[in-house]
Amino acid sequence: MNAFNFFMRQQVKKAAYKMGLWATEYPYFCSPLHLASFVNALEDLKHVPGCFVEVGVARGMTTRFVAEHIQLMNLDVPYYAIDTFSSFDPDDLDFEVKNRSKTMWEMQVFWNTYDKFVKDFKEFEFVTPIRADIKKVDFAELPPVKVAYLDVDLYQPTKIGLEKIWDRLVPEGYLFVDDVLDNNKWDGAYQAYMEFCAEKGLEPQVISTDCGVIRKPSHAQTPIRVVAS
Ligand SMILES: C[S@@+](CC[C@H](N)C(=O)[O-])C[C@H]1O[C@@H](n2cnc3c(N)ncnc32)[C@H](O)[C@@H]1O
Repeated sequence: MNAFNFFMRQQVKKAAYKMGLWATEYPYFCSPLHLASFVNALEDLKHVPGCFVEVGVARGMTTRFVAEHIQLMNLDVPYYAIDTFSSFDPDDLDFEVKNRSKTMWEMQVFWNTYDKFVKDFKEFEFVTPIRADIKKVDFAELPPVKVAYLDVDLYQPTKIGLEKIWDRLVPEGYLFVDDVLDNNKWDGAYQAYMEFCAEKGLEPQVISTDCGVIRKPSHAQTPIRVVAS
């Protein structure tokens, strides 16, 4: 941006602020404690090799926050940003309607696009966007995961996502799940999280209002990366 454009932009912002058109706002989908926990988990596992996986990235608000931390602290952490980039999978929506008493109209549609996401993150070379349905992602192609954030709202992708990430999670790795709150339109994530914890014999732990936390036991086996020959 040249000096003139920069100056004009500042003037427009200043005028908009004074006219009350531009107020400070919270741009993130998740709470401050969610975001702080991701950063703390990365700091906690600073010396453990592994990647960060975010499943369900929308327009990349959390991605940007965490990527900023990785870059600022010069951490060697590849970041995989997985999303359909075309909102919910119709099969997952059908499941909510047929099995979980939801209505189609209450399921909000996301309008992120892959091309815009790639463009927005081109300065962050360690961020790899993956356009895929989580149910079809082969995690054996990714490095072991040390921190993951699963934020796909509905029952099916959350349940399957939990199983896939768990298999790639390093011992002591962190797995965070959004929308772990009962009796609301995204309570499919809650049901999946609670079932998964029960099946694995894990104590459910919810921080902030709705962030489910899973920590893999330290005695678990380290996943091995499978490299295609
Ligand atoms: C609540 S938004 C994610 C918000 C983001 N984590 C953040 O903090 O800014 C949910 C995202 O999940 C994606 N999604 C939903 N079902 C999916 C699936 N089966 N596989 C991959 N992504 C999915 C949607 O496209 C949407 O972008």
